[in-house]
Amino acid sequence: MKGLFITFEGIDGGGKTTQLALAAKWLREQGYEVVESREPGGTPLAERVRELVLDPSLPLTTTTQMLLYLAARSEHVDKLLRPSVEAGKIVLCDRFSDSTLVYQGLSQGKSLEELALLRNLCSFASAGMAPDLTLVFDGRPEVLVRRRAARGVSDRYELQGLDFQQALRKGFLALAEAEPERLQLIDAEGSQEQVAASVQQAISALLHGEK
Ligand code: TMP
Repeated sequence: MKGLFITFEGIDGGGKTTQLALAAKWLREQGYEVVESREPGGTPLAERVRELVLDPSLPLTTTTQMLLYLAARSEHVDKLLRPSVEAGKIVLCDRFSDSTLVYQGLSQGKSLEELALLRNLCSFASAGMAPDLTLVFDGRPEVLVRRRAARGVSDRYELQGLDFQQALRKGFLALAEAEPERLQLIDAEGSQEQVAASVQQAISALLHGEK
């Protein structure tokens, strides 16, 4: 039996990483074999790329960043994601191609139409592997970023401020509108329990063929 590939997306501070761990626990309790991973990362080489690309002391052009994310993705798909799904596991991945389309595309002023090249590159890097379901954690940036800052986390993207986070949110919402079958919005401003319930509902619908 083929497994499932579910990605968790959204602006920084939306709680997707915590929710991914909760969803993995919930699925394991039901007897599913679950793989948790993240992008950039998920293999030793891709984790090394992550260190480089998220290091604020190394200023990179958008193109260099994009190519590093794609190199990490190609490795991740080949070594972990595809073999896991083919082995019948449920793979939960923190970010994937939609992040590239938003962070290196839409938030950089590119229109949906101009994303064609970026989409092709993403498809090349993932050798056509696409999520069965993408949960987009959505909320007002000022609320979500404050939450993350309270935990003392910062990286190059968050340092770019609220306007940038607004542009990211707009980008994810545009992707969700363009592909409502795959991308499902999750209200990230609720309590951890409320958000977890929405996540479980969305995954259950996929598991039981209601989607
Ligand atoms: P994280 O903080 O959610 O783990 O993600 C790391 C950062 O990497 C996040 O700010 C978004 C960024 N990113 C991109 O810009 N493009 C990509 O393709 C991916 C996967 C992540």
